[in-house]
Amino acid sequence: MPKSFYITTPIYYVNDSPHIGHAYTTIACDVMARFMRLDGYDVKFLTGTDEHGQKVDKAAKAANIDPQAFTDEVSQRFRALVKTGENQLNVTNDDFIRTTEPRHKKAAQALWERMKANGHIYLDTYEGWYAVRDEAYYAESELIEKDGKKIAPSGAEVEWVKEESYFFDLSKWQDKLLEFYEKNPDFIIPQSRYNEVISFVRGGKEKVEGALKDLSISRTTFNWGIPVPGADKHVMYVWIDALCNYLTAIGFPDTTSPSYQQYWQHAEHSPVHVVGKDIVRFHAVYWPAFLMAADLPLPKKIVAHGWWTIEGEKMSKSLGNVVAPKDLIDAYGIDQTRYFLLREVPFGNDGNFSRDQMVDRINSDLANNIGNLAQRTLSMIQKNAEGRVPNNNDLQAPDQELLELVQITKTLPQDIAQHIHHFRFDVIIGEILSFASAANAYIDKQEPWKLKKENPERMQTVLYTLAEAIRCIAIMLQPFIPQAAQKILLQLGYTETDFATTTGGIPFEQLKPAYALKPGTQLPVPAGVFPRVEKQERKTA
Ligand code: MSP
Repeated sequence: MPKSFYITTPIYYVNDSPHIGHAYTTIACDVMARFMRLDGYDVKFLTGTDEHGQKVDKAAKAANIDPQAFTDEVSQRFRALVKTGENQLNVTNDDFIRTTEPRHKKAAQALWERMKANGHIYLDTYEGWYAVRDEAYYAESELIEKDGKKIAPSGAEVEWVKEESYFFDLSKWQDKLLEFYEKNPDFIIPQSRYNEVISFVRGGKEKVEGALKDLSISRTTFNWGIPVPGADKHVMYVWIDALCNYLTAIGFPDTTSPSYQQYWQHAEHSPVHVVGKDIVRFHAVYWPAFLMAADLPLPKKIVAHGWWTIEGEKMSKSLGNVVAPKDLIDAYGIDQTRYFLLREVPFGNDGNFSRDQMVDRINSDLANNIGNLAQRTLSMIQKNAEGRVPNNNDLQAPDQELLELVQITKTLPQDIAQHIHHFRFDVIIGEILSFASAANAYIDKQEPWKLKKENPERMQTVLYTLAEAIRCIAIMLQPFIPQAAQKILLQLGYTETDFATTTGGIPFEQLKPAYALKPGTQLPVPAGVFPRVEKQERKTA
């Protein structure tokens, strides 16, 4: 079986319009998916939309449309971000799941039946608070007071619900969950979220109110959901339905299917679910408990990222500051947007989006550092080396040093590989940028423009070294800024066909010296890759 990797985004509630928070998760997963493909893994990357539940039902009612027609229409906004043809985010998802699809109904019902058959579901009455916006139950003690009203800690309105409901025996899973977290210290990253989850589950053990109680998992007061098998007046709680999407997409309930076997049962570092910090509890507590109850293997990792604010403020419709990915992409470019989102904040931390910072990043990192390096080198090669990969007859110590930094000889890609499993995108980008800075410092020191007259042979070697360094830097940058990296690599003699592979780019294997540029290869006329963005000229996104 090939080395396999399965990565998922949360499925997005269709009633919302896509914003940079959604784009962020999807792009992060895409970078990871691309990274693993280039590293030789067979990857499955899943995203999609969460279409059932009271929140979507209410939105459909407010729009006076039948919920199916409503979701058919509004899920389009999320599909446009990723689907072939439009693909605004330039992501490489292998599937797009909608929870209203028949394959998903079948999977969710099968998951339910497995938990039921194992004795973990019972019928009772739920009485308590529910927040439709969060699609979550809250204990009285968790609520906060605002303007004389009780609200959820998230700020969502809550309503009192009393209805017949099926329950999942979550309270019985504390010991098993704690044991599992202990054995798998990397199950939840970052560490701060891991600690939070453990103390939440421990709280359940110590009977802290609000922690790990049996969970109401069906509703009877509306019907926009997947029917509970054998009890049609109940629809499943939307979170059971939603979480199950990760199984649906790999062929569940057929646990013998090749895709289930490959991506769920036998993948060493996955499944990995990437989620925002607000939905960690569902993924790191409820989901493993459901899976254990159904006798199914658990995911390998839950990766929680932080939230974006906009120019220092919470993003909200009422403040009118919601940033749509499309506007950003139209204003600054897709690679620039991808780059900024992943470079700006350590994954896991909250981040602030500011247009000025974005312009600064584009100019300092992309235009001045990487763009300038490529531009300077390639135009010198064009002018002074007949547009061919220069000779490398006599590599000297400074040349070797630069090459050893970027080719797979010493620190790479082990360093990068180690960070990637912890989703430290900012660290990896920082490391790649430091190679570009080293190459820029090398040009300044070697002054190839002076060598043209003084020592043309040496000039060839210096330009060769630079071109090879750029080749490696561009290969490493592919997951982050795929279009620009490809443009650079095409200027170094790679062809379009080299990119039409299942890995979607030039594999990391080719960072090895064996794949180094061949002197004499004819190169196309170079063109700039990263234009500078002027602050006064920038368009408002
Ligand atoms: N439908 C559920 C997920 C079910 S997964 C089985 C859901 N959907 S959502 O559309 O509300 O949120 C999807 C993701 O967007 C969440 O991971 C959430 O954290 C993320 N974000 C929403 N606003 C965000 C920011 N302002 N910043 C970063 N991410 C944000 O929850």
